[in-house]
Amino acid sequence: MSYGLIGLGSMGSNLALNISKKQKLHIYNRSYEKVSYTIKKSNFSQNLIGHKDIEKMVAKMEQPRTIITLLPHGKATFDVIDDLVNHLEPDDTIIDSANEHHKAGKFLEKLCNIEDVNFLGVGMSGGSDGALNGPGIMVGGQKEVFEQHEEFLNTFCGNVVHINNDPSSGHYTKMVHNGIEYAMLQGISDMFSYLNQDKEIMKQFINECFYTEVNGFLIENTMKVLHEYNLDEIADVASMNNTGLWCSQVAMENVIPLPLISNGVNGRLYSQYKNIQANQKKNFYIDIESAVKTLKLIYAYSILEGLSLLDIKNIVTKKAQYSWSKGTIIQCEMIQFSREQLNNIIEQNIKDARRVYMQCIHYEISVPVLSNAIDFYDFTHEKKTSISLLMAQRHKFGDHQYTKLV
Ligand code: 6PG
Repeated sequence: MSYGLIGLGSMGSNLALNISKKQKLHIYNRSYEKVSYTIKKSNFSQNLIGHKDIEKMVAKMEQPRTIITLLPHGKATFDVIDDLVNHLEPDDTIIDSANEHHKAGKFLEKLCNIEDVNFLGVGMSGGSDGALNGPGIMVGGQKEVFEQHEEFLNTFCGNVVHINNDPSSGHYTKMVHNGIEYAMLQGISDMFSYLNQDKEIMKQFINECFYTEVNGFLIENTMKVLHEYNLDEIADVASMNNTGLWCSQVAMENVIPLPLISNGVNGRLYSQYKNIQANQKKNFYIDIESAVKTLKLIYAYSILEGLSLLDIKNIVTKKAQYSWSKGTIIQCEMIQFSREQLNNIIEQNIKDARRVYMQCIHYEISVPVLSNAIDFYDFTHEKKTSISLLMAQRHKFGDHQYTKLV
């Protein structure tokens, strides 16, 4: 039995250092510099064996082999797996840990199975620090293959959860994780805008968050950022690797609303169109306590949206929530709450969230995630919405049917 890793970007390199603390690991990267760099960083650990060629690496490995790929999703991963599988033997296993599109898993499993090679599709979270210290992983694929690897995965992961036998379910659960991450990140940023983009006030806000159920990786990370970064040097134009966008697509395709996650994506898109103007400090009373309550509501809605996305694929929500609870970017106390608890949080905090939002509108402060949260709340809580008029119009011009109230 032997282990290998292909792809030594910042996460891959750290993952190699992590795995090699406990076992021998064969490593390969397209540019050999990253192999040398990783070996040097490990203080020339005897457990790391570098290779310049995939075929030769496979030939040196003892059977059965397990090789993790940690490459950019899509073509880069497909090309490597397509090549790799030709060099492997029956009962070897490929574990793809990219932020892969959820439709890729079935295709990759088939590609591997043609050569009797096993496949597991894994969503891996925790960023590069997580890769070094114990990432949280969501595993999709045959239970039997998972069980063969469970012990190995537990030697370097902070949390290992088998989602189900579908080879796409690990990547899908990670995609949903990322969608929630988009909404939470924008939600924290919305509160930064409300707090006048004032770092000192933001630090007080984060200090308050530490004592609530939103406390977790992102809250701690925000505090570190406030201490370490000069935000004036960072252009306010966003980029992304599209996993949040995929969530919006899945929601649209399955006809379910996804207001916060989608506006987490939109916020990034809006940033491409913004007028460059100097930020003006607004002179109004800032209520930190209300901001904390608002963030609680944003977190609760974001998690509920994630649960709706899991329902589409019949993924057991408790299992996915547990997989997000350790080693991931979205881990926080609230992440394992039930739907009922999350809805209670929304009801308990809506008044404060509305107050914060009204102030933002009044002072022309954009809060994309908060605005959609309030809008969604109001739409779903109005006694009778404007949809009756919309339906009547559709009936009038297109003879589309409506449900008649008795
Ligand atoms: C993680 C993160 C990680 C990364 C994504 C986010 O769990 O470790 O989710 O996967 O932050 O790339 O995607 P964007 O680049 O689209 O923000």
